[in-house]
Amino acid sequence: MSKILVTGGAGYIGSHTAVELLNNGEELVIVDNFSNSSPNVLEKIKKITNKDFKFYEVDLLDEQNLEKVFKENNIEAVIHFAGLKAVGESVIKPIEYYHNNITGTLILLNLMRKYNCKKIVFSSSATVYGNPKELPIKEDFPLSTTNPYGSTKLMIEQILQDVAVADKDFRVVLLRYFNPIGAHESGLIGEVPNGIPNNVMPYIIGVAAGKYEELTVFGNDYPTKDGTGVRDYIHVVDLSLGHLKALEKIRNEAGVKIYNLGTGNGYSVLELIKTFEKVNNVKVKYKIGPRRKGDIPACYADASKAEKELGWKATRGIEEMCRDGWNFAINNK
Ligand code: NAD
Ligand code: WQD
Repeated sequence: MSKILVTGGAGYIGSHTAVELLNNGEELVIVDNFSNSSPNVLEKIKKITNKDFKFYEVDLLDEQNLEKVFKENNIEAVIHFAGLKAVGESVIKPIEYYHNNITGTLILLNLMRKYNCKKIVFSSSATVYGNPKELPIKEDFPLSTTNPYGSTKLMIEQILQDVAVADKDFRVVLLRYFNPIGAHESGLIGEVPNGIPNNVMPYIIGVAAGKYEELTVFGNDYPTKDGTGVRDYIHVVDLSLGHLKALEKIRNEAGVKIYNLGTGNGYSVLELIKTFEKVNNVKVKYKIGPRRKGDIPACYADASKAEKELGWKATRGIEEMCRDGWNFAINNK
């Protein structure tokens, strides 16, 4: 039977998507090098779903070993999560980011061509919109990036579109994620930040858990509802379900499709803190600090294209995102 290859399937979004794919009856092969995840996630996926899958500990840069995955399995489609994702680190280590994300994707594409696998769903990001001139953000807005991480996403989008021009049978879905937070309701899988978190939700959780003294809110003088940054937070399970819809689309239609995966709602940093405190009955100490370099005031999706063409819509609200994120944290101290 043909299988879906999930690269980066031990990671945050990949593991949640693996759960939904297995629950939906798909056969999976997961590939990960554990550069930002750990092997125990694989057991958790099995525990949640009561289903098995194949796993290869392989780096995408290792073409010889990656080829074994294609040789030993009939891969129908690839859902490509594997990549390095820390914006700040990418500024310090651009060569590593370009090599891992872009070379890794090129090696994957080369093997897909060799083994006649012509469907890919790619994890892109709202970061490719740069600082949008208007809100909400639509898929046809101008694209630009401000850091090497974002540039890898935009370049890979371009590479995939070029491959689809060269081979009319090659099918691509580019999913531009907004801000994924939360965790699986089982509390078994979730986001495990490597070192001090850069993103707001893992930091809020760290403060609530007593790991960090207080959160610094990066600026309260933005032209937003309360002056703090506004983002489109999306529950990771909703995001994962979007991949199932993308897979369905790619099975039925040729071409390149691009979708925003967001809720369409923007929440400020202060709203996020207040909701987290209320839902979980915990205190999150914070102070107002200066703006963070490279941040934009506000970012939220027009998610209507995904609703219309994929039949996908986020259904989990900000309360559930806060509750499930905290539930995972207290289960995995
Ligand atoms: P993650 O770091 O938790 O997962 C990525 C996984 O890929 C990790 O398990 C890591 O070990 C693996 N990996 C990295 N390089 C690899 C390589 N060369 N070979 C094999 N495995 C490799 O990140 P995530 O949050 O789950 O993100 C998944 C994807 O979604 C990434 O491509 C990321 O850029 C993109 N994305 C994430 C966010 C977000 O806020 N989390 C937003 C937009 C887009
Ligand atoms: C959210 C809001 C901060 C930390 C990043 C990447 C993006 C995507 C998702 C991968 C902003 C504020 C944050 C803190 C704060 N990743 N904040 N104190 O910057 O929207 O997006 O992650 O593709 O590419 O850029 O997410 O969680 O870092 O910030 O006040 O300690 O929280 O200023 O307004 P961001 P974030």
